[in-house]
This record gives sequence, structure tokens and C-alpha cells, in this order.
Amino acid sequence: MSTSTQPSPDPTMKNLLTAFNGESNAHVRYAAFAKKADEEGYHQVASLFRAASRAEQIHATSHAAVICKLGGSPEAAIEVPEVRSTRENLQAAIAGEEYERDVMYPEFIRQADAQQQAAALRTFRNALAAEAEHARLYTAALANLENMRTKTSYYVCSVCGYTADQLTFERCPVCNLPGEKFEAIS
Ligand code: FE2
Ligand code: FE2
Ligand code: FE2
Repeated sequence: MSTSTQPSPDPTMKNLLTAFNGESNAHVRYAAFAKKADEEGYHQVASLFRAASRAEQIHATSHAAVICKLGGSPEAAIEVPEVRSTRENLQAAIAGEEYERDVMYPEFIRQADAQQQAAALRTFRNALAAEAEHARLYTAALANLENMRTKTSYYVCSVCGYTADQLTFERCPVCNLPGEKFEAIS
């Protein structure tokens, strides 16, 4: 029989570090997918990957700030992205976003809520809302791939990473930032 005297790690800190690592890798992976999409002539998909890459960077920065505030240190293990065809890259990206939207962030939100960790809750909720849009935009791009050849602007909220294909709102639907403060990325 073994007895452990190690305290179990704070679940929300562990989740923040996992999310920081995931967002940091997604930032790098989507930049690589954008380069491949340009090479294959899918310039609008490249624009979308660049916008999402920027959004993931915003998520990573936001998670890192909460990690620091809670006394941790954000560290990511960046992996070399597996770049395939743009069709396959979109499929992989959709799977990743759906996992974050349906499994990872809902669980992290549940735990942060239970621990009353308001800052963690906010950064996880912001990310969840953006990942849902990424999944939707990637799915639409995959369904319309052959018409995705013209470089196009996407709009990214510089606070929460919300990503849109058109600026049809005056304020960010997630964090309320004025629309003119969105970054246009193409
Ligand atoms: Fe993200
Ligand atoms: Fe995402
Ligand atoms: Fe926002």
C-alpha cells in the first residue's frame, strides 16, 4: 500500500498550462497551414488560417497572463506541425477545434467555475467562443474549397480572439470590444 504526501496539482492551473500549450501550438500550426494553402493557390483559406493563427496567439497570451497572475509560469512545448494537403489540413483543424469546443474548454470551464477562478473562467470562455467560430469557418471553407482562391480579409478581436469573415457588428459579440478595434487579416 502506498501513501502519497504530494498535494494534487491545482486543476485550473493544470488546465491553463494545457490550454496555453495547445493554443501556442495551434498558432504555429495554422501559420504553417496558411503557407501551404498559398502554395496550393487557396489564398482565401490561407487568409483564414492566418486569422485563426492570430486568434490562437491572442488566446495563448491571455491564458499566459492568468497563469502569471496565479503564480505559475507559462511554458509551451512547440511541436513541428504535420503539414499535408490543404484539404487534409482543414480536416485536421476542424477536428482540433471541435475537440476544444465540445470537450476541452467545456471541462476546463466547469472546473474553473467550481473553483471560482474568475480570470481563468473568462479566458477559457473567450477561447471557447472563438473556437466555435473557427470550426464553423473551417467547415464552410472545406465545403467550398475550389471557390476559396482569392485572398480575403478576416477580422479578429484583439482582446478575445473572436474571428469573423465580415464585420457585421458594432461590438464584439463575445467581449464587447468596439468593431473598429478588430484586426483585419488577409
Ligand atoms: Fe484558441
Ligand atoms: Fe481555434
Ligand atoms: Fe472580443
